[in-house]
Amino acid sequence: MFQAQRPAIIVGNWKMHKTIAEAKSFIEELEPAARHAKAKVWLAVPFTAIQASAEIARKSPIVIGAQNMHEQESGAFTGEISCSMLKEAGAAFVILGHSERRKLFHETDASINKKIKVALHHDMSPIVCVGETLEQHQNGLTHRIIEEQLSLSLQGLNVTDLEKVILAYEPVWAIGTGRNATPEQAQDMHRFCRQFVGHHWTTAVAEKIIILYGGSVKPDNALALLTEPDIDGLLVGGSSLSVNSFSQIIDCCNINVS
Ligand code: PGA
Repeated sequence: MFQAQRPAIIVGNWKMHKTIAEAKSFIEELEPAARHAKAKVWLAVPFTAIQASAEIARKSPIVIGAQNMHEQESGAFTGEISCSMLKEAGAAFVILGHSERRKLFHETDASINKKIKVALHHDMSPIVCVGETLEQHQNGLTHRIIEEQLSLSLQGLNVTDLEKVILAYEPVWAIGTGRNATPEQAQDMHRFCRQFVGHHWTTAVAEKIIILYGGSVKPDNALALLTEPDIDGLLVGGSSLSVNSFSQIIDCCNINVS
């Protein structure tokens, strides 16, 4: 990140945590760290907290987004939320294809592909997650799985679309396990994703695309990950739930590494 000319983004993914009241006080408390940050600070909050969070965050550089959405504009989809509903509530980005969605809610690359197109149509930045499971990792299938997820989920997008997409490499074996990928392992996969984009679209868009790393990011491993040239930011789950640990991670982007 420090070598590249891409804006760093630190994204908190709260998952199913925090009420509206908790979200509001968290954002107020995080504001000074976000104001002094070189990185952009984004928070993916639960659906119920989007509107209140966006209102509080308006006075700060913090950007509010969602963790999922439905691929249809409207219809008989009990319990689902559309992109325009998210936008109206104040979400500026949406996480798509998180491994928990893929595993627990059986999301496929085909539906993630549809969701990306809908998000782009609504001018909402999609953060598209890819990642291999422990079994795939141990069987040496990492590159093949990531290539497959990228090619299916990004199918049919043009260069202009790609310029608005953010990728997140999140090895499933590292999510919530306390076992992060080493900076070298993460760098290798980030490079691979960037090369994939360069190969299928253009070198220019590959150089521009922001690729986040996610999976057990903590204050004590964030800097080493961010120092890798192809890691442009972080997608942080557990450590984004406390202002203290999340702001320590944000502060890592203020350190000048030469
Ligand atoms: P974690 O989650 O930081 O708790 O491992 C990351 C994620 O799921 O995005």
